[in-house]
Amino acid sequence: IKIFVPIDAAAIAVGANEVALAIEQEAAQRGVAVQIVRNGSRGLLWLETLVEVLAPQGRIAYGPVQVEDVAGLFEAGWLQGAAHALCHGLTDEIPYLKKQQRLTFARIGITDPLDLVEYQALGGFEGLKKALAMPPEAIVEEVTQSGLRGRGGAAFPTGVKWKTVLNTPADQKYIVCNADEGDSGTFSDRMVMEGDPYCLIEGMTIAGLATGADYGYIYVRSEYPHAVAALNNAISNAHAAGWLGRNINGSGREFNLEVRVGAGAYICGEETSLLESLEGKRGQVRAKPPLPAITGLFGKPTVINNVISLASVPIVLAKGAAFYRDYGMGRSKGTLPFQLAGNIKHGGLVELAFGVTLRELLYDFGGGSASGRPLRAIQVGGPLGAYLPESQWDVPLDYEAYVGISAMVGHGGIVAFDDTVDMARMAQYAMEFCAIESCGKCTPCRIGSTRGTEVIDKIRNNDHREQQVHLLRDLCDTMLGGSLCALGGMTPYPVLSALDHFPEDFGMPKSGQP
Ligand code: NAI
Ligand code: SF4
Repeated sequence: IKIFVPIDAAAIAVGANEVALAIEQEAAQRGVAVQIVRNGSRGLLWLETLVEVLAPQGRIAYGPVQVEDVAGLFEAGWLQGAAHALCHGLTDEIPYLKKQQRLTFARIGITDPLDLVEYQALGGFEGLKKALAMPPEAIVEEVTQSGLRGRGGAAFPTGVKWKTVLNTPADQKYIVCNADEGDSGTFSDRMVMEGDPYCLIEGMTIAGLATGADYGYIYVRSEYPHAVAALNNAISNAHAAGWLGRNINGSGREFNLEVRVGAGAYICGEETSLLESLEGKRGQVRAKPPLPAITGLFGKPTVINNVISLASVPIVLAKGAAFYRDYGMGRSKGTLPFQLAGNIKHGGLVELAFGVTLRELLYDFGGGSASGRPLRAIQVGGPLGAYLPESQWDVPLDYEAYVGISAMVGHGGIVAFDDTVDMARMAQYAMEFCAIESCGKCTPCRIGSTRGTEVIDKIRNNDHREQQVHLLRDLCDTMLGGSLCALGGMTPYPVLSALDHFPEDFGMPKSGQP
């Protein structure tokens, strides 16, 4: 009997390895033959460790399973899919999962992430096989037509970026995967790297074929050791099976790949700092232009894409641009893996087409706050994203619609706060974060963030409050317009949204104006 116990870091953090061991020991004691498969996570993180049993009627989910539950589960007859307080029925029928539109995450949680046979059985390498038979221009065109935009947060059209690299002649070009997922409350990149590493390898190889690059780097943050291990194993398996290297699947085409581990700086997620870091230098932002697409790694034309962007490419090639473009709304095509975190009852990964609202995600999927208190503010798009009050929770999640309310969808991170949150403190935290993570290259960010922290301190202590609010708005204006990169340039988003939507927390009247 097959039993699935996730090997994802989120499951391991709550004891999945110990649960797997306990199941093995209990089965041995009872003389039952079980085969434990370490799969990726299904993304229902509040149910981790989510153990699945392959019963006659299908895969039955039990969770959250702890070591002390294991004997009781055997006793109750879980190997036959028996009912139990921890049983959630057929995994695929759990509404949280069933209501999703999983394209990029279609395989994640189903198989052993390193099993190449399973990968291919579930459609793996179909996109790459098609790409191997296409000229570079046709691959770029397919990706352009799909409407795929950069999933790291900036939403730049992926096909246009690739075309710039394709059209820039050079003796060497590179594909760089930005896996320095530093946004608070985000984990979709990590889940792909741990749960479906071949999909990222396949996407990067397709990017190489499309642009004429034969070498790639995956720059992973040091906080993701499980992802690094999974990728390294996947790369060596793919080489051994002929899916990477000098002669990809007998085509005579070449692509090689290696993993580089960052050293823990948030700014190394900014593409030019990342390139500096990859080149062995201090992670400091480069001025743009020149764009990395023209003068990138070691001065060569370079595609830099986020993990989700690259992992979305195989399905675009396999099923065609029109299939992907049919999901979504407006200019936001396809799906986005949203990540529910913070004070939320059912935190986890929810992949859906653009156009879903925050309210649907928070309540239909998230189940409201974990504390049971009313939700009050939601930060969307990481630490540089705006705080949204309830009046904005019905705006469809679409890049342009969010820009229209001075917010951003970003990398799809959603962090919930209940009514006990102090929004003036959160605004101050944004400035503190910027001060700590600033690379120091430009003044509005380096000095502005520290001054911003001090000014909010004065506002909170009612020290010339109205004057300080004026000063804070002025400072935010300078940071917005005068910073070299998004760190300084976007820190005003959480600060101003807190001030505008929650002025009472700053001791200001509801209008937010002094
Ligand atoms: P950007 O708008 O400057 O650039 C977007 C991308 O398009 C870059 O790769 C740029 O090189 C490329 N590009 C622009 N014009 C091009 C052209 N004509 N040809 C080819 N390529 C072109 O944005 P940036 O500074 O790269 O990213 C900022 C975003 O990063 C923010 O919106 C934020 O959402 C996100 N972010 C994500 C984090 C995460 O953990 N995923 C962390 C922090 C920020
Ligand atoms: Fe560096 Fe901040 Fe300027 Fe970006 S905005 S270049 S992080 S100092």
